[in-house]
Amino acid sequence: MKMKNSIYSTDGISLSGNITADLNDICRDFPSDKIFVLLDQNTSENCRKRLELLSTVPEQNVIIIQDGESNKNLDQVQAVWQFLGEQMADRKSLLVNVGGGMLTDLGGFAASTYKRGIQFINVPTTLLAMVDASVGGKTGVNFRGLKNEVGLIRQALHVFLYPPFLETLDDENLRSGFAEMLKSALIKDPQLWNDLKAFNLDARSYGDLAPLLWRSVMIKKEIVDLDPNENGIRKALNFGHTVGHALESQALHTGRKMMHGYAVAYGMSVEARLSGRFSGLTEEDRDDIIAVIRKIYGKLPEQIQQQKELIDYMRFDKKNERNQINFTLLNKIGSCEVNNFISEEDISKTLAV
Ligand SMILES: NC(=O)c1ccc[n+]([C@@H]2O[C@H](COP(=O)([O-])OP(=O)(O)OC[C@H]3O[C@@H](n4cnc5c(N)ncnc54)[C@H](O)[C@@H]3O)[C@@H](O)[C@H]2O)c1
Ligand SMILES: [Zn+2]
Repeated sequence: MKMKNSIYSTDGISLSGNITADLNDICRDFPSDKIFVLLDQNTSENCRKRLELLSTVPEQNVIIIQDGESNKNLDQVQAVWQFLGEQMADRKSLLVNVGGGMLTDLGGFAASTYKRGIQFINVPTTLLAMVDASVGGKTGVNFRGLKNEVGLIRQALHVFLYPPFLETLDDENLRSGFAEMLKSALIKDPQLWNDLKAFNLDARSYGDLAPLLWRSVMIKKEIVDLDPNENGIRKALNFGHTVGHALESQALHTGRKMMHGYAVAYGMSVEARLSGRFSGLTEEDRDDIIAVIRKIYGKLPEQIQQQKELIDYMRFDKKNERNQINFTLLNKIGSCEVNNFISEEDISKTLAV
């Protein structure tokens, strides 16, 4: 469905110029007492006031969960199921997820499993969720200390990107989301890579960011549409993520903070080095990537030196096949290849540099 109030719109996803009008349009098909809204305390405080839709949805249909990666768990999913059940949500109900990637992943999972699946809309409010998490249908929660260990792939009815939500987002979260934009450019679009390098994040100009954001999302959408269940080309989106997820799992395990985009950025820096060794990335491109990441995200964290532990986490990566650790690597900026199985010895050597 394309939305008429949107600045850009394609099947299932819009960059909205008027989030109230867009949401009202799509919600017209649902009785207001069957529309449910999921927020966390931050999005309730910062984003809710921009959503006039909420004035027609009864207050008892709004549920607020706890934010934070450590709360992305089955207990909170159960709380959402419980709430939906108590409020008499039926199979024709709609869940509107308003939040960052943690919330859209958890809300999408709760909706997809409640009564074998009700529809959900994602209204991402962080840059990371706008460019990545809310698009593509991956839903789930952390389990047994492993990231996104339980979940399923199910597409949202629609995703609405509304950049003004970013006004209340802190700098670190903005940078975190920007990493996924860099990734999209690196795997698919050298011109976007140059445009992102020239973009001044600190200026916080959302008007200038919007077209770049849309181009990044369209790269993700095109890839997901070709391979929704990640049997092949969708793995391209995992550039930076084999090392990135290991860093995140390690942080989750030890209670340290590691934002997804930062983990992916450090992961891209390491995987650019692997690309130099195994998939033909030139030294010049490799150094360009490493320098851009260092400028925005600082030095690699010292945990990168805990090679054995990180490799242990990599062994649990969902992309692996036959116990071999799988990487998406670059041939050049704007082009990648999936299914590079690299030996633990070579991974260890590259991490150690
Ligand atoms: N499904 C996917 O394909 C996919 C892809 C990438 C990441 N993810 C997941 O996304 C999650 C990370 O998402 P994230 O980076 O958005 O973090 P997040 O969802 O944890 O949000 C970060 C913080 O920002 C707050 N917040 C959200 N919107 C705000 C706003 N507009 N103003 C002020 N504060 C706001 C949240 O309450 C939270 O405290 C991870 O769980 C990761 O696994 C999923
Ligand atoms: Zn990611």
